[in-house]
Amino acid sequence: MGISVPRTRHATALGAILVLCCGAAQADDTAQGESIYRDNCIDCHMEHAEGDGMAPDIRGVPRNSLRRAMGGFDAMPEFELSKGDVAELLSYLHSLKD
Ligand code: HEC
Repeated sequence: MGISVPRTRHATALGAILVLCCGAAQADDTAQGESIYRDNCIDCHMEHAEGDGMAPDIRGVPRNSLRRAMGGFDAMPEFELSKGDVAELLSYLHSLKD
């Protein structure tokens, strides 16, 4: 967190444009992300990514934190996910936030 602020702002603007123009694509990403989540993350981060005391709540986690976490640290295992998988996961985790 806190690194590369201009890029983050750019990504947010791009995200807003994607939501406006490509609602259907966004929904596909979210569904794909949910299946990746269920296959890989649900045991520790729980049913709705709310965490369980050891694994944190990751609903709406920032992109940078998610990408960093995929390298593994402490009790968080490493995952080899493609950029597209990470984007889909992010879309799913952000859909849980509201
Ligand atoms: C074996 C249990 C386990 C699994 C499986 C797991 N995690 Fe974690 N995860 C953890 C733990 C424990 C931490 C906290 C590590 C710490 O802070 O010491 C963590 C931390 C994180 C963080 C960091 C949150 C932050 O605020 O920086 C993210 C993001 C995350 N996990 C995402 C995922 C995703 C996405 C998956 C599936 C691809 C996943 N995790 C699978 C246990 C797990």
